[in-house]
Amino acid sequence: MPEQTPDRIVTMEKIVNLCKRRGFVFQSSEIYGGLISCYDYGPLGSELKRNVKEAWWRDTVNSRADIVGLDCSILMHPKVWEASGHLSNFNDPMIDCKLCKGRFRADQLEHASCPKKPSKRPGQCDGELTDVRQFNLMFKTHMGPVEDSAAAVYLRPETAQGIFVNFINVVNSARMKPPFGIGQIGKSFRNEITPGNFLFRTREFEQMELEFFVKPGTDDAWYAYWQERRLQWYHSYGIEPSNLRLREHASDELAHYAKGCGDVEYNFPIGWQELEGIANRTDFDLKQHIEASGKDLSFYDDQAKERYVPYVIEPSAGADRATLAFLVDAYDEDGPEDDRRAVLRLHPSLAPIKVAVLPLMRKGGLPERAHEIVAMLGAHVAVDYDQAGSIGRRYRRQDEVGTPLGVTVDYQTLEDDTVTLRDRDTMEQQRVAIGALVDIVREKTAPPVPAAKLAPDA
Ligand code: GAP
Repeated sequence: MPEQTPDRIVTMEKIVNLCKRRGFVFQSSEIYGGLISCYDYGPLGSELKRNVKEAWWRDTVNSRADIVGLDCSILMHPKVWEASGHLSNFNDPMIDCKLCKGRFRADQLEHASCPKKPSKRPGQCDGELTDVRQFNLMFKTHMGPVEDSAAAVYLRPETAQGIFVNFINVVNSARMKPPFGIGQIGKSFRNEITPGNFLFRTREFEQMELEFFVKPGTDDAWYAYWQERRLQWYHSYGIEPSNLRLREHASDELAHYAKGCGDVEYNFPIGWQELEGIANRTDFDLKQHIEASGKDLSFYDDQAKERYVPYVIEPSAGADRATLAFLVDAYDEDGPEDDRRAVLRLHPSLAPIKVAVLPLMRKGGLPERAHEIVAMLGAHVAVDYDQAGSIGRRYRRQDEVGTPLGVTVDYQTLEDDTVTLRDRDTMEQQRVAIGALVDIVREKTAPPVPAAKLAPDA
């Protein structure tokens, strides 16, 4: 796909290189040549992604009394996928080249290139294309020691179904009544025909999904509410508003069960792409499971004395895609031509390391005092210690990975128990007392307060 905004400093190549060089993301099984479309998060990347997931969980689950969490198994009864429609419908159209054996999405041929002659589209080279076949994206495996069809199970392609099949368990155990939601974060697997663009489309990824159950008739208002709230979430964690947009699906794009769907799209270096989908799934899923399982998954409202199958509003985000978007959006370069610095302007609460403690010299008792400060701050936030190289180079190393604060321990520290506190973005430094550091660091790296509006306007 073409680079969409050539005037932007950030490119996918810079992000991929930074991720590898600084330990955010590595190719999976790299020493064996790598496993295509699978990635491992390194020391900094695992912190960053964990912070993204915590930010979602805090805003979506913990900060609200009307939403609870779940953590379901990845393997589920095969009947779940029959009932949900994934066994029969979760397909992409696939086409092969008989000459080079390249495999492509038939509906995306205009974006693909021939593996042998990259300047040509598949089929426009000497190769002949096969007919289009439907390819089911679910990974199949076997449970137990017998590999027959009776033992076939699937790696879940979305976390949502675990929530639907537990709907009644949650209603009964957590005493929830619509409107209420169930959130889940977890791995999903799709045997994508054409994965690519780094973390953007992989075969193993993590989703952050909310299924919000509402009374039919109130669904349109809740649908609009969740669209607004999810956009606000990305804004509040620092994504530049002009790089985000909401794209409402046209009626011929909608899944057969959806009454509406809007994608939150981000302006990636590869172009505007889906970051999160927000769908009105109606009562489709619960009704499918009612029919297939024979269990009653309806809700009885004992105040209104009425029984109904709730509608579901589903904001469904990708944790890896969001992590990539936060990295891309935070990437910046500044300073004069001969003294340029790369800086990740991550929201402080997302930054993998919150504060770096740097002794000015490797002698004179400074490292020892710095280690005491590391121990003090480390009880509260993620801390790094660095004594290698000039202080300027050390600041640059921290800027490049997004560390919002630097604490420098110098000879004055030994005299008056103060340190300099440096700000990543402004590069300004101020002298502060060590005794005040914990409070200052916690305050400067705190997450944003979740939006106060908990429901659509009446
Ligand atoms: N339950 C609804 C559902 O799964 P989806 O639009 O297929 O909807 C939701 O997926 C989100 O999951 C996407 O917006 C994207 O962020 C993430 N996602 C989906 N497929 C992905 C893949 N192959 N690699 C990385 N993230 C993916």
